[in-house]
Formats: sequence, C-alpha cells, structure tokens
Amino acid sequence: MKPVKIGLLGLGTVGGGTVSVLTRNAEEIARRAGRGIIISHAAAKDYNRGLKGLDQIARITDDAYGVVNDPEVEIVVELIGGYKPALDLVMTAIANGKHVVTANKALIATHGNEIFAAAQKQGVTVAFEAAVAGGIPIIKALREGLAANQIEWAAGIINGTSNFILTEMKDKGRDFDDVLKEAQARGYAEADPTFDIEGVDAAHKLTILASIAFGIPLQFDKVYKEGITAIERQDVSYAAELGYNIKLLGITRKTANGIELRVHPTLIPEHRLIANVDGVMNAVLVKGDAVGPTLYYGAGAGAEPTASAVIADIIDVVRALTTDPGNRVPHLAFQPKSMSNIAILPMDEVQTGYYLRVHAVDKPGVLSDVTTILGDLGISIEAIIQKQPDEDATLVPVILLTQKVTEKNMNEAIRKIEALDSVSGKVRRIRVETLA
Ligand code: HSE
Repeated sequence: MKPVKIGLLGLGTVGGGTVSVLTRNAEEIARRAGRGIIISHAAAKDYNRGLKGLDQIARITDDAYGVVNDPEVEIVVELIGGYKPALDLVMTAIANGKHVVTANKALIATHGNEIFAAAQKQGVTVAFEAAVAGGIPIIKALREGLAANQIEWAAGIINGTSNFILTEMKDKGRDFDDVLKEAQARGYAEADPTFDIEGVDAAHKLTILASIAFGIPLQFDKVYKEGITAIERQDVSYAAELGYNIKLLGITRKTANGIELRVHPTLIPEHRLIANVDGVMNAVLVKGDAVGPTLYYGAGAGAEPTASAVIADIIDVVRALTTDPGNRVPHLAFQPKSMSNIAILPMDEVQTGYYLRVHAVDKPGVLSDVTTILGDLGISIEAIIQKQPDEDATLVPVILLTQKVTEKNMNEAIRKIEALDSVSGKVRRIRVETLA
C-alpha cells in the first residue's frame, strides 16, 4: 500500500520532535499503522535547519495555506499553536476533506465545538491527544479505556511549567522568575508564559477533559482559574508541616447540582501519589464508578513526549482511513446527538477544605475572634497553628485548615476576618482536596 502523505504546520519544539520521532521510528510506526507515513509538505516561518529528519520532507515552505490546500496531503498536522491563523487553517483543511491532528489545546478548548461540528459534517477526524498532558495518553484512556464507566471526577497536574516552578521553589528554594526562565528555555512554557502561571493553559486542558469525561460541550469560559503567582515559599513550608504538598490542580467533578470546573493551587495530602508528581511531569487521577480511581503519569511537555502523542494520533487516523465515519470514535467520546446540557456549577457553590494564613496581632482574644467568625458560618476547623512572629515582631502568622465548606461561606468568612482590627492585610487562601 502507498504511504500516507501528511502535511506539517510548524517546525518548532513539538514540530521538530514530531519530525525526529517519525523518521527515527519510521519502520516500527509503519508496522503499527499498516502503511508508511511520510511528511510530504511542511510549512514553517523559522526552524532549526540542522534538525535530524528534515531531509526526509519533500517540500518545506513558509506557506501554511499551501499545505492545507495541497491535494496530495491526506492528514494535516497543526503544530503552530494559538488561534490565528491556526483556526482558519484547521477549518480550511477540514473543508478540503483532510483529517487533522493538533496539539493546540487553546484552539480545541475555545473553538472545538465548531471544529468538531465541521469535521462531523465532512466525515473527517480531528485528533488532539497531545493537547492534554503532553505524552500521557489521557484522551484515549478516558474516551476509550474507561468508556464503560460513569466518570465521577478527574483531577490533574496538567501544566508542566507551573509544576516545575512549584517543585523547584519547594526543593531548592529557587526564585519564581528564575525557574520560569528555565522552563521557557527548555521549551515547556507557552509562547505567552502567563498562560502557564495564571492557570489558563491548565484550564484549556481541563475543559477538554471535562467534555470527554461527562459528554458536555467544551466550555472554557466557565472554568474558574487561579494561578500560582500568589504562592509564597512560606505557604509551601507551612503546608508541608501540616502534611500537604501544594500543586496547581485542574479539577472537574459531577455533582447533583452541576459540574465543577476549576483550576487553582491546592493542598493535597502528601501521602497521595499525585502529591509527589514533581518537575515537569503531569498526572491525572480519574475516578470511574466501575473501575475506581486510576492514575496516569508522564511527561506533560517537551518535544518528544508531545510528539509521541501527536504521532499516536496520526497512526490512529491512518488506521481509520478506511472506516465508515459514523463508526469512528466520537471526538468528544459521546455520540454528538447524545451530548448532555448539565450545568456547570458556579464556583460559589463548590465545596472544598481550605488552608488559611492570617496575619494577626499577638494579643489575647484574636484567635477566638477568628474562630468565632468561622464557627458562626458553620465552618469547622481541622487544624490551627500559630507561627513565630514576623520580622517586625508585631504580627504572628496563624495557619488554619478547615473542613469542607462552600466557597460562598468561605468568601464571607474571609471578608469578616480581613475586617478585624487585629488582622493585617489579606488572608492567604489555598483550597484543600483530599482526593480520597
Ligand atoms: N506549557 C505547557 C506546560 C506545555 O507547561 O504544560 C504543554 O502543554
């Protein structure tokens, strides 16, 4: 059988990794796919001309539209990232009857509904394994491996850059900006690194996971997002004293009132496996009603780990080229006509435990003022520690761990605590998940 011709858009970190792995493992890949796979046409504005495997690409130009309009190309692999011109290129490829493989989480999370509708109409596949958690085959696991289950919840460390930063801060006491620069140099960070540290990238990935887990449309705008920029080293060490590690978690959970969809720094008991996922590594915990909890771990960013997922998608598409479009694995796991419109739960109604750091004047009665506010709002305290006074010796940090409470009640409690004369500045709040 003749090899399948693919068109590649972008030869950056992931594009370069895809060329390297596709050429290095060509023989094994052909044995798996049933046909050879060649890059017949690539487009990139700028790329490393010394990249191994470039000589195997028949044509490299800087004209991305030349690739998506090339009649010989059967599968377009979009590795440019961002929205413009990626969205138009993907839609043009679909309109031209080409299958698409993409690593573009921002594009899928925000425009996936229209992209999949167009693909469905044209009978083509849009595959996006590399969009979530880099090399971990989490889309396939959720969409296919766990297809028998009602998914109850999923929680993941799904941004390698922020996990790398939190790990280096904790283990080596390194400075935030310094670690971020290293993550950028290693090719982990997004073109706009605020996406990593403000929780936007994790929110893109969580949007996709939630859709596949629960059969709901992609709803990126409904995700609650809070990044890691406000995390200070003292929180990391106080949390450790209490037996917790702080991770940026993406959490989605089906409740009777709607679906939780949130990204925020989270205290996780240190004995949980996921609490020990460090560096650029990602992990996703999925709880299904039949299978119980399952954990997926691997590199969440980087050239070859992400290329591993891109190429797995290419192989899947090649294998499916001859199947009836109606029988292919649905893009969002559930048949398009069977999607659910269950609501996303407003953040105010979400229940979690909390870590609070309060800076209070060191005098009798202050702690009882704080605990009375919590008690009046029905918030139960699980642990409380008073630390050594700050350097100016007038204020003491008080650390509290609470049991589960609604976000609304905690917001009210924090507002009242901050209004106390004996309390200075803002209350530092980090949510707690036991993931039991
Ligand atoms: N910037 C992303 C991360 C890359 O740090 O996880 C992989 O999506």
